[in-house]
Order: sequence, then structure tokens, then C-alpha cells
Amino acid sequence: MSPAAPELLAGLREILGADGILTADADCARYLSDHRRLYQGRARAVLRPRTVAEVVRLLALCNAQRVGVVPQGGNTSYCGGATPDESGQQVVLSLERLNRIRSVDAANYSLIAEAGCVLAQVQRAAADAQRFFPLSLGSEGSCQIGGNLSTNAGGTAVLRYGMMRELVLGLEVVLADGRVLESLSALRKDNTGYDIKSLFLGAEGTLGVITAASLKLFAAPRAHATALVAIPDVQAAVTLLGQLREVSGDAVTSFELMPRVAIELAVRHLEGVSDPLARPYPWYVLCELSAARAAALGGVLEEALAAALGAGTVLDAALARSERERAALWHLREHIPEAQRREGAGFKHDIAVPVAALPQFVARAGAWLDAHVPDGRLVAYGHVGDGNLHFNVSARPDAVRTEFLARAEDVRRAIHDLVHEFGGSVSAEHGIGRLKVGELERYAAPLELELMRAVKRAFDPHGIMNPGKVLRQE
Ligand code: MLT
Ligand code: ZN
Repeated sequence: MSPAAPELLAGLREILGADGILTADADCARYLSDHRRLYQGRARAVLRPRTVAEVVRLLALCNAQRVGVVPQGGNTSYCGGATPDESGQQVVLSLERLNRIRSVDAANYSLIAEAGCVLAQVQRAAADAQRFFPLSLGSEGSCQIGGNLSTNAGGTAVLRYGMMRELVLGLEVVLADGRVLESLSALRKDNTGYDIKSLFLGAEGTLGVITAASLKLFAAPRAHATALVAIPDVQAAVTLLGQLREVSGDAVTSFELMPRVAIELAVRHLEGVSDPLARPYPWYVLCELSAARAAALGGVLEEALAAALGAGTVLDAALARSERERAALWHLREHIPEAQRREGAGFKHDIAVPVAALPQFVARAGAWLDAHVPDGRLVAYGHVGDGNLHFNVSARPDAVRTEFLARAEDVRRAIHDLVHEFGGSVSAEHGIGRLKVGELERYAAPLELELMRAVKRAFDPHGIMNPGKVLRQE
């Protein structure tokens, strides 16, 4: 912890009360490094407001004193978006105590949640009202809705329900100078000028602090049909996806690709995980159909898979016959990042290309890796239904760690240049944070960057909001 100007700390303490501000090293430690341990920051203090009024006052004070503020939710960022820099001059603003569900309106299919609500808490609040909040990701037990909004989180149900941006009706945001943008609308239609709220979605706390959101709810799906399907190649995944969407009337909720190596890593590193199929296959998809009523969902999936088996698109399949089997398949999928982490050194790339271009992209990027990274294995898994793959690479067991890691930059450059050539995105769902500031500069159109910088200056003229994230500090 760096020495803080005493009057700043005194002012913050006066606003937040003694238990609302942490300064001791041991108390602050967990807020100062990111989930992947890429960054180790320092901060003057960690601020833990309980009310919007406190956020208003603390931002006004920090703005007046030009103190950088780093908003933080569940601290599950993959890109270091919520970690302070090493200067020791910034403060972390944890939203964790601003965690009330303010209201649930079942008739309007909406609810209002504060930023610090854990995603699973929002899902439960919706379920308690016989409704459904569809955002779903591996970290849903700890990530917070403010972080989901600020990174425009994706996850495993985007194919059906869209990303976080599409699940938002309104926002409450405290601006850098402490003014509050009250836009907690519950409306689905509102064409009254610029959509200002949407600028905060995906802005990673660089334009203001989201304190609450009005979110869309859906009818709760009561029936699921889930299967782990073995396929020969990535083209088969794209073909099968198209067929399933067609025959099910677009009831495909999730469609997740996994290579053989991902199953092997999961079986090796995760307790209680076994291979759902008797023999190994090159690729797999975990697909799930859902509907409000059981109807003939299971039959639709089984029939489609049987036809695909005949055509050679599908090699084998394990259908979930119970909720327990379904949960086991999802457990396997959602813990692949953890299995990969336990395997050792690796590189992560969160890329997207148009769905139909995925097979060609995987072939070309895979060939490049074979030729240039012989001590690495491609672990490309993810949300193939959205064209989004976690195009990760794990070091082979016999790789020399330092030699492998030394190539991170070259690998990233080659993969991302290829993504760009395919008209894709180098950050499909994890954001820019600190990790990809250079990537955004390299691949975004100059006019787009110019407009982003203009927006940043308009909202945050003194540059106090999450400095150095998304855009380099001016
Ligand atoms: C996932 O889909 O599992 C995550 O987004 C994490 C990852 O990049 O591995
Ligand atoms: Zn993902």
C-alpha cells in the first residue's frame, strides 16, 4: 500500500465510514491482482460503498483531486480490466456491497439489480418470480452484474439470448464528476435520441460507474435436451448447428465446441470428470435445446442426431438422460479453463470470426501453430454458435516453459493478424482491459479510435475513470 495524501483518505473515510475503506496490505491484497495473475497492482485504498450516494460523493472527491478510480466487481476479468496499475496512486472502487435486487417486475419481465449483485443472485431472483435471466458463464457464482455490464459479457447462451448488451433495458450510472445518469427504464421501446446508456456497456468502467441496471427477463425454460456429440471436424459443427437450428425452430440455446485434448485435460485434472463417450473422437460439441414446455424437444434432438450420424456429420453422441447427467456435461465444459490452467503454461486468445468461416480459420491458424509452436497443443474451445472460440494453446508436457512462454507475443500476433484478415474480433467476449490496449490500437479503424477517444474526453475530461484500460491514457 502506498502512502496516501492524508486529506484524501480522511475525506474518503468521512464519506464511507471506517468499514467502507481498506488500506491495510492484508485487507487490500485480493483486490490488487487479477484472476489470471497477469498483473500485480498497488492502490492508495480500496473503497467499498454501500449506497449510490456514497459513490456520488467519492467520485466527486476523486475527480476534484484527479485520483484514478478503478471500478471492480467480482474480479474475474481475463484482461486485467479491474486491477489498479503499479503506481500506487489509484483507488479501487469495489461495488461488492452495492448488492441489492431493488425490484422484480414479473409482469413486465424485468428486474432492477445493483452492480454488486453476483450473477447467480440475479438468476435466482428471476427464478423466484417464475422468470429467467439467461446470462450464463463459468464464473456466475462470483462475477458481478456490474462487471458483466461493463465488459458486455457473453457466455454459453448468447446464441439464443444475445450478449449482456441485449439484456439491458436501462442503467443508473455515476459519472466521473459525481453526477448521476438516471436511466433505469423498464421500456422495450424508446427511440428518443442517442442511446447514451449503451456507451457504458463494454466500456469497462472508463466512462463512469454503473451502479444499477434494469434487466430483461424471459419465460423460464422448463425443458432441456442436451447432448455431447462427437464430430469429425469443425465443418461438421457448423453444418450440425445449421441443421439443429432449422429442425428445432431455433430452440438451440447453446452450442459449444471442444477438441479431444480439452476432454483429456478435463479428465486428467478435474475430480469426478470422466469421458462421456466410450471411444476418443477428434472434436465434440455440447449442444442444448430448450423450451418452455417439454413438448418433443428430446425427440427433435435425437432424430436430428440420428440423421447426422447417417450422413457422417456426427460420429457418436451421449444424450443427457437426467438433470444429473446434464449437469455433468456442463461441469465438464465449464471447467475446461480450469483444467487448462492446471495443465501448466498456456496462451489465451478470445477470438470471433463469422460462423461459416470457422473451419477455414481453425485450419489455417492450426497449421501455423503446427509449424511454429511444435511444443504447444491447440486447445480451441468455446461458443461456436457465436463464431467465438477460445483459441488457446497449452504447452506440451515436455516443453521448456521459458522457451514456450517467450513466444507468446509472436503467437498472439500471428493469430490476431489472421483473425483480422477473416474480418473477425480479437476480443469477442472478454474485453480489452489492460491486456489488449495495443491490440485495439492495431486493429480498430483509425476513425473508430478517434471517436472512442472523443467519447472518453466528453465523459471523463480529467481521465480519472479506470485510467489506461481500453484506451491508452492521454
Ligand atoms: C469460457 O468460455 O470458458 C471462458 O470465456 C473462459 C476462457 O477463455 O477460457
Ligand atoms: Zn467464453
